[in-house]
Amino acid sequence: MASLTIRKLDDTLKAYLRLRSAKNGRSVEEEVRVILRELSEGRAEPVEASVPALAAAPAPAPRATGAAGEPRITLIIGGGIAAYKALDLIRRLKERRIQVRCVLTKAAQQFVTPLAASALSHERVYSDLFDAESEFDAGHIRLARECDLIVVAPATADLMAKMAQGHADDLASAILLAANRPILLAPAMNPLMWNNPATRRNVLQLRRDGIHTVGPNAGEMAEAGEAGVGRMAEPTEIAAAADHMLRPPQPRPLAGKRVLITAGPTHEAIDPVRYIANRSSGKQGFAIAAAARAAGADVVLVTGPVELHDPPGVSVMRVESARDMLHRVEAALPADVAIFAAAVADWRVATEGTQKLKKTAAGMPPLQLVENPDILATISKLKDKRPPLVIGFAAETEHLIENAKAKFARKGCDWIVANDVSPATGVMGGDRNTVHLLARDGKEVTVDSWPVMTKEEVAAALVSRIARTVGATS
Ligand SMILES: Cc1cc2nc3c(=O)[nH]c(=O)nc-3n(C[C@H](O)[C@H](O)[C@H](O)COP(=O)(O)O)c2cc1C
Repeated sequence: MASLTIRKLDDTLKAYLRLRSAKNGRSVEEEVRVILRELSEGRAEPVEASVPALAAAPAPAPRATGAAGEPRITLIIGGGIAAYKALDLIRRLKERRIQVRCVLTKAAQQFVTPLAASALSHERVYSDLFDAESEFDAGHIRLARECDLIVVAPATADLMAKMAQGHADDLASAILLAANRPILLAPAMNPLMWNNPATRRNVLQLRRDGIHTVGPNAGEMAEAGEAGVGRMAEPTEIAAAADHMLRPPQPRPLAGKRVLITAGPTHEAIDPVRYIANRSSGKQGFAIAAAARAAGADVVLVTGPVELHDPPGVSVMRVESARDMLHRVEAALPADVAIFAAAVADWRVATEGTQKLKKTAAGMPPLQLVENPDILATISKLKDKRPPLVIGFAAETEHLIENAKAKFARKGCDWIVANDVSPATGVMGGDRNTVHLLARDGKEVTVDSWPVMTKEEVAAALVSRIARTVGATS
Protein backbone atom coordinates (compact mmCIF):
# COMPACT_ATOMS: atom_id res chain seq x y z
CA MET A 1 0.00 0.00 0.00
CA ALA A 2 1.46 3.37 -1.02
CA SER A 3 1.96 6.02 1.67
CA LEU A 4 1.33 9.72 1.23
CA THR A 5 3.29 12.63 2.74
CA ILE A 6 0.80 15.46 3.23
CA ARG A 7 3.63 17.98 3.69
CA LYS A 8 4.75 17.43 0.09
CA LEU A 9 1.39 18.29 -1.47
CA ASP A 10 0.95 21.67 -3.14
CA ASP A 11 -0.54 24.56 -1.14
CA THR A 12 -3.98 24.33 -2.77
CA LEU A 13 -4.34 20.69 -1.86
CA LYS A 14 -2.98 21.24 1.63
CA ALA A 15 -5.42 24.10 2.24
CA TYR A 16 -8.26 22.00 0.87
CA LEU A 17 -7.38 19.01 3.04
CA ARG A 18 -6.99 21.09 6.20
CA LEU A 19 -10.23 22.97 5.67
CA ARG A 20 -12.19 19.86 4.79
CA SER A 21 -10.80 17.77 7.65
CA ALA A 22 -11.39 20.58 10.17
CA LYS A 23 -14.93 21.05 8.90
CA ASN A 24 -15.65 17.34 9.22
CA GLY A 25 -13.83 16.94 12.52
CA ARG A 26 -11.42 14.34 11.12
CA SER A 27 -7.67 14.14 11.05
CA VAL A 28 -6.11 14.97 7.70
CA GLU A 29 -5.17 11.30 7.29
CA GLU A 30 -8.75 10.18 7.95
CA GLU A 31 -10.00 12.77 5.49
CA VAL A 32 -7.64 11.49 2.78
CA ARG A 33 -9.02 7.99 3.37
CA VAL A 34 -12.60 9.32 3.00
CA ILE A 35 -11.66 11.14 -0.21
CA LEU A 36 -10.08 8.00 -1.65
CA ARG A 37 -13.21 6.04 -0.77
CA GLU A 38 -15.40 8.71 -2.39
CA LEU A 39 -13.18 8.65 -5.47
CA SER A 40 -13.50 4.88 -5.78
CA GLU A 41 -17.26 5.25 -5.50
CA GLY A 42 -17.27 8.06 -8.09
CA ARG A 43 -18.66 10.73 -5.75
CA ALA A 44 -15.66 12.98 -5.15
CA GLU A 45 -16.17 16.77 -5.16
CA PRO A 46 -13.83 19.03 -7.14
CA VAL A 47 -11.18 20.72 -4.97
CA GLU A 48 -11.85 24.21 -6.38
CA ALA A 49 -15.47 24.07 -5.31
CA SER A 50 -14.48 23.44 -1.72
CA VAL A 51 -11.69 25.94 -1.03
CA PRO A 52 -13.39 29.31 -0.66
CA ALA A 53 -10.20 31.30 -0.86
CA LEU A 54 -9.24 29.61 -4.11
CA ALA A 55 -12.58 29.30 -5.81
CA ALA A 56 -14.53 32.01 -7.57
CA ALA A 57 -17.84 30.55 -6.44
CA PRO A 58 -20.57 33.14 -5.90
CA ALA A 59 -21.04 34.01 -2.25
CA PRO A 60 -24.17 32.46 -0.73
CA ALA A 61 -27.05 34.88 -0.29
CA PRO A 62 -26.76 36.47 3.16
CA ARG A 63 -29.45 35.57 5.65
CA ALA A 64 -32.20 38.14 5.89
CA THR A 65 -32.82 37.72 9.59
CA GLY A 66 -34.47 40.66 11.32
CA ALA A 67 -33.12 42.92 13.99
CA ALA A 68 -33.67 40.47 16.84
CA GLY A 69 -31.99 37.67 14.86
CA GLU A 70 -35.42 36.32 13.93
CA PRO A 71 -35.89 34.75 10.50
CA ARG A 72 -38.11 36.57 8.03
CA ILE A 73 -40.84 35.24 5.76
CA THR A 74 -42.51 36.91 2.80
CA LEU A 75 -46.07 35.58 2.99
CA ILE A 76 -48.03 35.74 -0.26
CA ILE A 77 -51.76 35.46 0.32
CA GLY A 78 -53.63 34.20 -2.75
CA GLY A 79 -57.27 34.79 -3.65
CA GLY A 80 -58.96 31.74 -2.22
CA ILE A 81 -61.64 31.25 0.38
CA ALA A 82 -58.92 30.00 2.79
CA ALA A 83 -57.29 33.46 2.76
CA TYR A 84 -58.94 34.17 6.13
CA LYS A 85 -56.81 31.38 7.62
CA ALA A 86 -53.68 33.21 6.40
CA LEU A 87 -54.42 35.84 9.07
CA ASP A 88 -54.18 33.14 11.73
CA LEU A 89 -51.02 31.88 10.03
CA ILE A 90 -49.40 35.31 10.56
CA ARG A 91 -50.05 34.95 14.30
CA ARG A 92 -48.76 31.38 14.41
CA LEU A 93 -45.54 32.43 12.64
CA LYS A 94 -45.05 35.35 14.99
CA GLU A 95 -45.55 33.04 17.97
CA ARG A 96 -42.56 31.13 16.62
CA ARG A 97 -40.55 34.36 16.55
CA ILE A 98 -40.61 34.63 12.77
CA GLN A 99 -41.03 38.06 11.17
CA VAL A 100 -43.69 38.22 8.46
CA ARG A 101 -44.13 40.64 5.56
CA CYS A 102 -47.35 40.13 3.61
CA VAL A 103 -48.14 40.43 -0.07
CA LEU A 104 -51.80 40.21 -1.09
CA THR A 105 -52.88 39.38 -4.62
CA LYS A 106 -55.68 41.47 -6.10
CA ALA A 107 -58.04 38.52 -5.65
CA ALA A 108 -56.91 37.99 -2.05
CA GLN A 109 -58.18 41.47 -1.20
CA GLN A 110 -61.69 40.24 -1.99
CA PHE A 111 -61.35 37.89 0.99
CA VAL A 112 -59.13 39.72 3.52
CA THR A 113 -58.05 43.33 3.85
CA PRO A 114 -54.47 44.64 3.71
CA LEU A 115 -55.29 46.46 6.96
CA ALA A 116 -55.92 43.17 8.81
CA ALA A 117 -52.69 41.63 7.47
CA SER A 118 -50.75 44.77 8.35
CA ALA A 119 -52.19 44.96 11.89
CA LEU A 120 -51.30 41.33 12.56
CA SER A 121 -47.84 41.37 10.98
CA HIS A 122 -46.95 44.86 12.27
CA GLU A 123 -45.49 45.57 8.84
CA ARG A 124 -46.54 47.39 5.72
CA VAL A 125 -48.49 45.18 3.29
CA TYR A 126 -47.65 45.07 -0.42
CA SER A 127 -50.05 44.35 -3.27
CA ASP A 128 -49.22 46.40 -6.34
CA LEU A 129 -46.39 45.64 -8.75
CA PHE A 130 -46.52 49.17 -10.15
CA ASP A 131 -46.44 50.88 -6.76
CA ALA A 132 -44.26 53.97 -7.25
CA GLU A 133 -43.51 54.11 -3.53
CA SER A 134 -42.00 50.65 -3.26
CA GLU A 135 -40.80 50.17 -6.84
CA PHE A 136 -38.44 53.15 -6.92
CA ASP A 137 -35.81 50.63 -5.71
CA ALA A 138 -37.21 47.46 -7.32
CA GLY A 139 -39.43 46.55 -4.39
CA HIS A 140 -40.56 43.26 -5.90
CA ILE A 141 -36.95 42.07 -6.08
CA ARG A 142 -36.36 43.10 -2.48
CA LEU A 143 -39.51 41.31 -1.33
CA ALA A 144 -38.21 38.20 -3.08
CA ARG A 145 -34.75 38.41 -1.57
CA GLU A 146 -35.02 40.15 1.81
CA CYS A 147 -36.43 37.11 3.49
CA ASP A 148 -35.32 33.60 4.40
CA LEU A 149 -38.36 31.85 2.99
CA ILE A 150 -41.38 32.65 0.81
CA VAL A 151 -44.67 31.07 1.86
CA VAL A 152 -47.75 31.12 -0.37
CA ALA A 153 -50.97 30.49 1.57
CA PRO A 154 -53.43 29.87 0.17
CA ALA A 155 -51.66 28.89 -3.06
CA THR A 156 -54.46 29.11 -5.60
CA ALA A 157 -54.68 26.97 -8.73
CA ASP A 158 -54.15 30.18 -10.67
CA LEU A 159 -50.97 31.19 -8.82
CA MET A 160 -49.48 27.71 -9.19
CA ALA A 161 -50.27 27.72 -12.93
CA LYS A 162 -48.52 31.07 -13.28
CA MET A 163 -45.52 29.83 -11.33
CA ALA A 164 -45.25 26.66 -13.38
CA GLN A 165 -45.30 28.76 -16.56
CA GLY A 166 -43.01 31.51 -15.27
CA HIS A 167 -45.50 34.37 -15.49
CA ALA A 168 -44.76 37.66 -13.72
CA ASP A 169 -47.70 39.95 -14.44
CA ASP A 170 -48.51 40.93 -10.86
CA LEU A 171 -46.54 41.50 -7.65
CA ALA A 172 -46.98 37.95 -6.26
CA SER A 173 -45.94 36.13 -9.45
CA ALA A 174 -43.07 38.58 -10.08
CA ILE A 175 -41.72 37.93 -6.55
CA LEU A 176 -42.00 34.18 -7.04
CA LEU A 177 -40.17 34.34 -10.36
CA ALA A 178 -37.42 36.60 -8.98
CA ALA A 179 -36.94 34.56 -5.78
CA ASN A 180 -33.63 33.04 -4.78
CA ARG A 181 -35.05 31.74 -1.49
CA PRO A 182 -36.85 28.48 -0.75
CA ILE A 183 -40.58 28.54 -1.45
CA LEU A 184 -43.32 26.73 0.48
CA LEU A 185 -46.81 26.46 -1.01
CA ALA A 186 -49.97 25.66 0.92
CA PRO A 187 -52.40 24.82 -1.91
CA ALA A 188 -56.12 25.27 -1.26
CA MET A 189 -58.90 24.74 -3.74
CA ASN A 190 -61.96 22.75 -4.63
CA PRO A 191 -61.15 19.00 -5.04
CA LEU A 192 -62.14 19.16 -8.72
CA MET A 193 -59.65 21.98 -9.28
CA TRP A 194 -56.95 20.06 -7.34
CA ASN A 195 -57.55 16.89 -9.34
CA ASN A 196 -57.78 18.62 -12.68
CA PRO A 197 -54.99 17.30 -14.95
CA ALA A 198 -53.77 20.86 -15.52
CA THR A 199 -53.29 21.40 -11.75
CA ARG A 200 -51.70 17.95 -11.39
CA ARG A 201 -49.21 18.83 -14.14
CA ASN A 202 -48.44 22.21 -12.56
CA VAL A 203 -47.92 20.78 -9.08
CA LEU A 204 -45.62 18.08 -10.47
CA GLN A 205 -43.63 20.69 -12.36
CA LEU A 206 -43.30 22.91 -9.28
CA ARG A 207 -42.11 20.02 -7.14
CA ARG A 208 -39.56 19.17 -9.83
CA ASP A 209 -38.45 22.80 -9.67
CA GLY A 210 -37.62 22.28 -5.99
CA ILE A 211 -40.68 24.01 -4.57
CA HIS A 212 -42.02 22.60 -1.30
CA THR A 213 -45.68 21.99 -0.49
CA VAL A 214 -47.66 21.43 2.68
CA GLY A 215 -51.14 19.95 2.26
CA PRO A 216 -53.73 20.16 0.93
CA ASN A 217 -55.68 18.05 3.39
CA ALA A 218 -58.84 16.04 2.87
CA GLY A 219 -62.10 17.31 4.38
CA GLU A 220 -65.23 19.38 4.00
CA MET A 221 -65.12 22.20 1.46
CA ALA A 222 -66.57 25.67 1.82
CA GLU A 223 -68.92 24.76 -0.99
CA ALA A 224 -72.01 23.13 0.52
CA GLY A 225 -71.98 19.32 0.42
CA GLU A 226 -68.52 19.01 -1.18
CA ALA A 227 -65.64 17.09 0.38
CA GLY A 228 -62.29 15.68 -0.77
CA VAL A 229 -58.63 16.70 -1.01
CA GLY A 230 -58.22 20.44 -1.38
CA ARG A 231 -58.52 22.02 2.09
CA MET A 232 -55.58 24.22 2.99
CA ALA A 233 -53.33 22.74 5.69
CA GLU A 234 -54.08 24.22 9.11
CA PRO A 235 -52.09 27.39 10.02
CA THR A 236 -50.26 25.48 12.77
CA GLU A 237 -49.16 22.85 10.22
CA ILE A 238 -47.97 25.49 7.78
CA ALA A 239 -46.12 27.37 10.53
CA ALA A 240 -44.43 24.13 11.65
CA ALA A 241 -43.41 23.28 8.06
CA ALA A 242 -42.02 26.80 7.56
CA ASP A 243 -40.16 26.70 10.87
CA HIS A 244 -38.69 23.33 9.93
CA MET A 245 -37.39 24.79 6.67
CA LEU A 246 -35.98 27.84 8.42
CA ARG A 247 -34.48 26.02 11.37
CA PRO A 248 -34.02 22.36 10.43
CA PRO A 249 -33.36 20.17 13.48
CA GLN A 250 -29.66 19.74 14.00
CA PRO A 251 -28.07 16.31 14.40
CA ARG A 252 -27.36 15.57 18.08
CA PRO A 253 -24.32 13.29 17.97
CA LEU A 254 -23.48 13.93 21.65
CA ALA A 255 -26.96 13.17 23.01
CA GLY A 256 -26.64 11.27 26.29
CA LYS A 257 -23.03 12.40 26.83
CA ARG A 258 -21.86 14.62 29.67
CA VAL A 259 -19.22 17.16 28.70
CA LEU A 260 -17.28 19.18 31.26
CA ILE A 261 -15.55 22.35 30.07
CA THR A 262 -13.43 24.98 31.78
CA ALA A 263 -13.02 28.49 30.40
CA GLY A 264 -11.63 31.93 31.12
CA PRO A 265 -8.84 33.09 33.38
CA THR A 266 -8.51 32.56 37.10
CA HIS A 267 -8.04 35.37 39.60
CA GLU A 268 -5.56 34.68 42.37
CA ALA A 269 -6.04 37.07 45.24
CA ILE A 270 -3.08 39.03 46.59
CA ASP A 271 -5.21 40.86 49.15
CA PRO A 272 -8.93 41.76 49.34
CA VAL A 273 -8.61 44.22 46.41
CA ARG A 274 -5.78 42.96 44.20
CA TYR A 275 -5.31 39.80 42.23
CA ILE A 276 -3.10 38.07 39.65
CA ALA A 277 -4.95 37.44 36.38
CA ASN A 278 -4.36 36.90 32.66
CA ARG A 279 -5.87 38.13 29.40
CA SER A 280 -8.08 35.11 28.65
CA SER A 281 -11.59 36.22 27.54
CA GLY A 282 -13.23 32.79 27.89
CA LYS A 283 -14.65 33.06 24.35
CA GLN A 284 -13.15 29.79 23.09
CA GLY A 285 -14.37 27.73 26.07
CA PHE A 286 -17.83 29.31 25.90
CA ALA A 287 -18.00 28.61 22.16
CA ILE A 288 -17.11 24.95 22.81
CA ALA A 289 -19.79 24.74 25.51
CA ALA A 290 -22.40 26.15 23.10
CA ALA A 291 -21.30 23.78 20.31
CA ALA A 292 -21.35 20.74 22.62
CA ARG A 293 -24.84 21.73 23.81
CA ALA A 294 -25.99 22.16 20.21
CA ALA A 295 -24.68 18.63 19.57
CA GLY A 296 -27.02 17.39 22.31
CA ALA A 297 -24.56 16.99 25.20
CA ASP A 298 -25.36 17.68 28.82
CA VAL A 299 -22.78 20.44 29.37
CA VAL A 300 -21.22 21.78 32.56
CA LEU A 301 -19.09 24.88 32.13
CA VAL A 302 -16.81 25.93 34.97
CA THR A 303 -15.56 29.41 34.21
CA GLY A 304 -13.28 31.94 35.76
CA PRO A 305 -14.30 35.64 35.81
CA VAL A 306 -15.39 36.63 32.26
CA GLU A 307 -17.84 39.08 30.76
CA LEU A 308 -19.83 36.60 28.71
CA HIS A 309 -23.46 35.48 28.91
CA ASP A 310 -24.26 31.90 29.89
CA PRO A 311 -24.72 29.81 26.72
CA PRO A 312 -28.38 28.64 26.64
CA GLY A 313 -28.98 25.19 28.09
CA VAL A 314 -25.51 24.97 29.66
CA SER A 315 -25.04 24.59 33.39
CA VAL A 316 -22.56 27.35 34.24
CA MET A 317 -20.52 27.59 37.44
CA ARG A 318 -18.57 30.78 38.01
CA VAL A 319 -15.39 30.56 40.09
CA GLU A 320 -12.46 32.83 40.94
CA SER A 321 -9.29 30.91 41.66
CA ALA A 322 -7.56 27.81 40.32
CA ARG A 323 -8.37 25.98 43.56
CA ASP A 324 -12.08 26.87 43.27
CA MET A 325 -12.01 25.68 39.69
CA LEU A 326 -10.47 22.34 40.60
CA HIS A 327 -13.07 21.76 43.36
CA ARG A 328 -15.93 22.51 40.97
CA VAL A 329 -14.44 20.31 38.26
CA GLU A 330 -14.00 17.39 40.68
CA ALA A 331 -17.56 17.84 41.95
CA ALA A 332 -18.89 17.82 38.38
CA LEU A 333 -17.42 14.38 37.59
CA PRO A 334 -18.15 11.85 36.20
CA ALA A 335 -18.12 13.09 32.62
CA ASP A 336 -17.65 11.43 29.26
CA VAL A 337 -15.46 14.23 27.97
CA ALA A 338 -13.50 16.94 29.81
CA ILE A 339 -12.13 19.93 27.92
CA PHE A 340 -9.81 22.21 29.83
CA ALA A 341 -9.80 25.47 27.89
CA ALA A 342 -9.34 27.76 30.91
CA ALA A 343 -6.14 29.75 31.26
CA VAL A 344 -5.48 28.69 34.83
CA ALA A 345 -2.90 30.73 36.73
CA ASP A 346 0.19 28.62 37.37
CA TRP A 347 0.93 30.43 40.61
CA ARG A 348 -0.78 32.20 43.48
CA VAL A 349 0.62 34.18 46.39
CA ALA A 350 1.64 31.99 49.28
CA THR A 351 -0.15 34.05 51.91
CA GLU A 352 -3.12 36.10 50.82
CA GLY A 353 -3.28 39.41 52.70
CA THR A 354 -6.35 39.72 54.89
CA GLN A 355 -6.16 43.54 54.62
CA LYS A 356 -5.08 45.74 51.72
CA LEU A 357 -1.29 45.71 51.59
CA LYS A 358 0.14 49.13 52.39
CA LYS A 359 3.16 50.94 51.06
CA THR A 360 5.84 50.93 53.71
CA ALA A 361 9.18 52.61 54.12
CA ALA A 362 10.72 49.16 53.72
CA GLY A 363 9.67 49.14 50.03
CA MET A 364 7.58 46.59 48.14
CA PRO A 365 5.96 43.82 50.17
CA PRO A 366 7.61 40.52 49.29
CA LEU A 367 5.22 38.42 47.15
CA GLN A 368 6.06 34.80 47.64
CA LEU A 369 4.43 32.64 44.91
CA VAL A 370 3.45 28.99 45.23
CA GLU A 371 2.27 26.62 42.53
CA ASN A 372 -1.42 26.18 41.87
CA PRO A 373 -2.94 22.74 41.42
CA ASP A 374 -2.60 21.45 37.85
CA ILE A 375 -6.24 20.76 36.93
CA LEU A 376 -5.52 19.06 33.60
CA ALA A 377 -2.87 16.73 35.05
CA THR A 378 -4.95 16.00 38.16
CA ILE A 379 -8.01 14.93 36.17
CA SER A 380 -5.95 13.10 33.51
CA LYS A 381 -4.34 10.99 36.22
CA LEU A 382 -7.48 10.08 38.13
CA LYS A 383 -7.98 6.35 38.59
CA ASP A 384 -11.74 5.84 38.88
CA LYS A 385 -13.36 9.02 37.67
CA ARG A 386 -11.06 9.88 34.76
CA PRO A 387 -13.27 10.93 31.84
CA PRO A 388 -12.68 8.64 28.83
CA LEU A 389 -11.61 11.63 26.73
CA VAL A 390 -9.55 14.40 28.38
CA ILE A 391 -8.57 17.37 26.24
CA GLY A 392 -6.16 20.10 27.29
CA PHE A 393 -5.35 23.46 25.75
CA ALA A 394 -1.82 24.71 25.30
CA ALA A 395 -1.55 28.45 24.88
CA GLU A 396 2.00 29.24 23.85
CA THR A 397 3.83 32.33 22.70
CA GLU A 398 6.84 30.54 21.17
CA HIS A 399 7.88 27.10 19.89
CA LEU A 400 4.20 26.20 19.78
CA ILE A 401 4.27 22.58 18.64
CA GLU A 402 7.43 21.71 20.56
CA ASN A 403 6.02 23.14 23.81
CA ALA A 404 2.61 21.59 23.20
CA LYS A 405 4.21 18.16 22.65
CA ALA A 406 6.15 18.52 25.91
CA LYS A 407 2.95 19.50 27.74
CA PHE A 408 1.19 16.54 26.16
CA ALA A 409 3.84 14.16 27.52
CA ARG A 410 3.67 15.71 31.02
CA LYS A 411 -0.09 15.94 31.51
CA GLY A 412 -1.36 12.51 30.54
CA CYS A 413 -4.37 13.84 28.60
CA ASP A 414 -5.65 12.37 25.32
CA TRP A 415 -5.60 15.42 23.05
CA ILE A 416 -4.06 18.85 23.24
CA VAL A 417 -5.38 21.84 21.36
CA ALA A 418 -2.40 24.11 20.85
CA ASN A 419 -2.73 27.75 19.92
CA ASP A 420 -0.32 30.60 19.47
CA VAL A 421 -1.36 33.40 21.82
CA SER A 422 1.54 35.77 21.17
CA PRO A 423 0.20 39.37 21.04
CA ALA A 424 0.59 39.63 17.24
CA THR A 425 -1.99 36.84 16.70
CA GLY A 426 -4.76 38.72 18.56
CA VAL A 427 -6.06 35.35 19.84
CA MET A 428 -6.29 36.40 23.50
CA GLY A 429 -9.59 38.28 23.70
CA GLY A 430 -10.04 38.14 19.90
CA ASP A 431 -12.62 36.26 17.83
CA ARG A 432 -10.39 34.09 15.68
CA ASN A 433 -8.05 31.25 16.47
CA THR A 434 -5.51 29.10 14.66
CA VAL A 435 -5.19 25.76 16.38
CA HIS A 436 -3.26 22.55 16.05
CA LEU A 437 -4.78 19.36 17.41
CA LEU A 438 -2.28 16.94 18.93
CA ALA A 439 -3.46 13.37 19.46
CA ARG A 440 -1.85 10.03 20.07
CA ASP A 441 -1.62 7.43 17.33
CA GLY A 442 0.01 4.48 19.12
CA LYS A 443 3.36 5.83 20.28
CA GLU A 444 3.31 8.66 17.73
CA VAL A 445 1.84 12.09 18.31
CA THR A 446 -0.11 13.33 15.28
CA VAL A 447 -0.50 17.06 14.67
CA ASP A 448 -3.43 18.41 12.65
CA SER A 449 -3.05 22.08 11.81
CA TRP A 450 -6.41 23.70 11.20
CA PRO A 451 -6.77 26.84 9.10
CA VAL A 452 -7.52 30.16 10.82
CA MET A 453 -11.15 30.06 11.93
CA THR A 454 -13.52 31.93 14.18
CA LYS A 455 -13.66 30.57 17.72
CA GLU A 456 -17.16 29.25 16.95
CA GLU A 457 -15.80 27.37 13.93
CA VAL A 458 -12.94 25.93 16.00
CA ALA A 459 -15.54 24.86 18.59
CA ALA A 460 -17.75 23.23 15.95
CA ALA A 461 -14.82 21.38 14.39
CA LEU A 462 -13.59 20.19 17.80
CA VAL A 463 -17.04 19.02 18.87
CA SER A 464 -17.51 17.23 15.58
CA ARG A 465 -14.19 15.44 16.11
CA ILE A 466 -15.18 14.57 19.70
CA ALA A 467 -18.53 13.21 18.51
CA ARG A 468 -16.77 10.94 16.04
CA THR A 469 -14.54 9.66 18.81
CA VAL A 470 -16.97 9.12 21.68
CA GLY A 471 -20.14 8.50 19.63
CA ALA A 472 -23.70 8.89 20.92
CA THR A 473 -25.61 6.63 23.26
CA SER A 474 -29.06 7.70 22.13
C1 LIG B 1 -65.73 32.85 -3.63
C2 LIG B 1 -64.49 32.39 -4.35
C3 LIG B 1 -63.69 31.47 -3.78
C4 LIG B 1 -62.55 31.01 -4.43
N1 LIG B 1 -61.76 30.09 -3.84
C5 LIG B 1 -60.67 29.63 -4.49
C6 LIG B 1 -59.84 28.66 -3.87
O1 LIG B 1 -60.09 28.22 -2.73
N2 LIG B 1 -58.79 28.22 -4.54
C7 LIG B 1 -58.46 28.67 -5.77
O2 LIG B 1 -57.48 28.21 -6.34
N3 LIG B 1 -59.23 29.61 -6.38
C8 LIG B 1 -60.32 30.09 -5.77
N4 LIG B 1 -61.10 31.04 -6.38
C9 LIG B 1 -60.70 31.53 -7.69
C10 LIG B 1 -59.60 32.58 -7.55
O3 LIG B 1 -60.08 33.65 -6.74
C11 LIG B 1 -59.19 33.10 -8.91
O4 LIG B 1 -58.63 32.04 -9.67
C12 LIG B 1 -58.24 34.24 -8.83
O5 LIG B 1 -57.90 34.65 -10.15
C13 LIG B 1 -57.01 33.86 -8.10
O6 LIG B 1 -56.14 34.95 -8.11
P1 LIG B 1 -54.70 34.87 -7.44
O7 LIG B 1 -54.15 33.54 -7.76
O8 LIG B 1 -53.93 35.98 -8.08
O9 LIG B 1 -54.91 35.12 -6.01
C14 LIG B 1 -62.23 31.50 -5.74
C15 LIG B 1 -63.05 32.45 -6.29
C16 LIG B 1 -64.17 32.90 -5.62
C17 LIG B 1 -65.06 33.93 -6.28
